[in-house]
Amino acid sequence: MRDVPTFDLSLIFVRGKDGQIRGFFNACRHRGNHLCVENSGNLRAFTCKFHGWSYNLHGELAGVPDEESFFDLNKSQLNLIPVSTDMWQGFIFFNLESEPDQSLEQHLGEFGEALAGYPFHEGSARYQFRGEIKANWKSMVDSFTEIYHVPFLHKCSISDTLAGPENPLGRLLDIRLYGPHKTSSITSNKNYKPWPVQGIAYEFAQSGAVTGGQGTKEGLPPGVNPTKKDDWGLDVNVIFPTFLPVIGPGMYFTHQMWPVAVDRTVWEMTGFVAPARTAADRFIQEYFLVELRDAVLEDMNTVERVQSSINAGVINEFHYQDNEIALRHQNHVVNKCLNT
Ligand code: FES
Ligand SMILES: [Fe+2]
Repeated sequence: MRDVPTFDLSLIFVRGKDGQIRGFFNACRHRGNHLCVENSGNLRAFTCKFHGWSYNLHGELAGVPDEESFFDLNKSQLNLIPVSTDMWQGFIFFNLESEPDQSLEQHLGEFGEALAGYPFHEGSARYQFRGEIKANWKSMVDSFTEIYHVPFLHKCSISDTLAGPENPLGRLLDIRLYGPHKTSSITSNKNYKPWPVQGIAYEFAQSGAVTGGQGTKEGLPPGVNPTKKDDWGLDVNVIFPTFLPVIGPGMYFTHQMWPVAVDRTVWEMTGFVAPARTAADRFIQEYFLVELRDAVLEDMNTVERVQSSINAGVINEFHYQDNEIALRHQNHVVNKCLNT
């Protein structure tokens, strides 16, 4: 089950016995009750808890209690309402248009090809932070797509791991623009000396490390660390408009923004890691989860303050520099969409 805060609606995605993923509006055709209330799970059929109508995993209405008391009920016309659904590298995408203008493959274009083959499937365990942030969704995307702020805003948390003495002003390693999408490559500080507990985590981290793990940089698809430079830390990808897969050596996590008002956004950050096999794995994952959480809280506090300046009418323009190119690009694409 997937709630979609922007449209205040609920969807169901299910993998059938034939292996295919199908999407439906989470609404019973009798009187509209939600069929699913659990976020995930396994079942053989969807049975509505209101009056017991049931649907198979293809969305077909299969059972209606006391069917003979209805008047001319045509069950074949009362299947679940489908949602256009497609997949890219294991991520499920939906489109609320019944016949989308563009396929997912067309929408992703070269970006989709460049990142195909990254081992997303290895991150089969996940954790998530979610909250409603008092900020416009574009400010939130902005805050994750530049590291100009890292030496300053994150100076007590992750600054030295990403922007050390060789990159004191947080310049980008590289940026690739793919139509509306983009990949910003961010440096890591190869000479970073972790503090003691962090050092233990780094020493054993094969995956899950956001800021300095030992995961492999070899054999990655052309779109991941596109320059193949050794001081690569991670890539912040934007799948326009609001989905940001952040990929580093041996780890990835995603940001999903759901705009709910001009100055409010439901934000979900989901980390994907290989299932822990030892207590050490578990410790490492927990360590990096907390490190990431603390850094992102610094970002979230700041975007709320930015929004307050906008809401007060004090600030009505931003001034971007060269290393904020991803922000300029995002605004360009948004403006283009609004003007067409
Ligand atoms: S609303 Fe689902 S069975 Fe009545
Ligand atoms: Fe940040």
